[in-house]
Amino acid sequence: MLNKVKEIHRSSVVTANARPFLKWAGGKTQLLDELHMRLPPVFIENGEIQRYVEPFVGGGALFFFLKKNFKVKTAFLLDINKELIVGYWAIQRNVNELIDELRNVEEMYLKLPEHQRKAFYYRMRDGYNRQRKEFDYSNYSPDWIKRAVYLIFLNKTCYNGLFRLNRKGEFNVPFGRYKKPVICDEENLIKVSKALADTQIICGDFEESRKYIQANTLVYLDPPYRPLNDTSSFTGYSEDGFFDHDQVRLAHFFKEMDKRGAYLMLSNSDPKNRDQGDDFFDRLYEGFVIERVKAKRYINSNAHKRGDITELIIRNYK
Ligand SMILES: C[S@@+](CC[C@H](N)C(=O)[O-])C[C@H]1O[C@@H](n2cnc3c(N)ncnc32)[C@H](O)[C@@H]1O
Repeated sequence: MLNKVKEIHRSSVVTANARPFLKWAGGKTQLLDELHMRLPPVFIENGEIQRYVEPFVGGGALFFFLKKNFKVKTAFLLDINKELIVGYWAIQRNVNELIDELRNVEEMYLKLPEHQRKAFYYRMRDGYNRQRKEFDYSNYSPDWIKRAVYLIFLNKTCYNGLFRLNRKGEFNVPFGRYKKPVICDEENLIKVSKALADTQIICGDFEESRKYIQANTLVYLDPPYRPLNDTSSFTGYSEDGFFDHDQVRLAHFFKEMDKRGAYLMLSNSDPKNRDQGDDFFDRLYEGFVIERVKAKRYINSNAHKRGDITELIIRNYK
């Protein structure tokens, strides 16, 4: 009976205003206004996007924004981080089971006093890292729901709420002290699941998105930020880093997709924040529309150095 009531409630959640279900490093919620006003005028006029591709989807801030404000017919979301893709697939395919399991974990966790919460967190983290060794990332199964539960629980309770992997691919973020974290945001998870209908979610390198991009496709590219020097290019998103040669590879890809007739919008950190003479991206994207917009974010690991900095938005259209 209770399950029936739950299902009726869940199926009545119709609004598509989903938000990212994870807090993600480099998430673009803060930049949405700037990105919105730079969308191709044809989509703004029609309120409709036929085909959308996001090769570095992360938490998907722009994707969910577009789903809320436009009629997005077909979408293709890619990311190299397989743990993130496990989360998207489980929500897309089995949101009800995922909510039930996450709700159980949330109830167990919130009942505990703080010192026991910490031990619970580390048990979950160990379990997550152990499961990874024998996990089958190629074939979807009920295990994916369990792994997505781990992912969301850890993201909501870890320090700073950021998912970060070490070079061995292990999740290594310490415990975060939140009084009453919302671990199972049922309403939003259902909205996310609905927003993901008619969407293909793919694990892979950004170049794999080539096969989904056609003339007039809207493509938003948000690669890992370019760090200060090449030796620190380990990004924490996956076992691999994203190096200057990957940025060059991306610029080639951008030019190839430009020739194909796609609408391309790319954001990146602006190296001029640190060094006025650094024109790495200005040279790579010479001939395209390059703009610098104000953004608030941490410019390095020192939390006190937060302030107004600029980010780059590069487009192949006006
Ligand atoms: C800056 S984040 C994207 C954030 C996203 N726009 C948001 O709003 O949350 C960059 C993403 O690129 C992914 N990534 C890193 N290297 C990649 C590659 N070679 N191909 C595809 N995705 C990659 C990371 O896993 C990460 O999720």
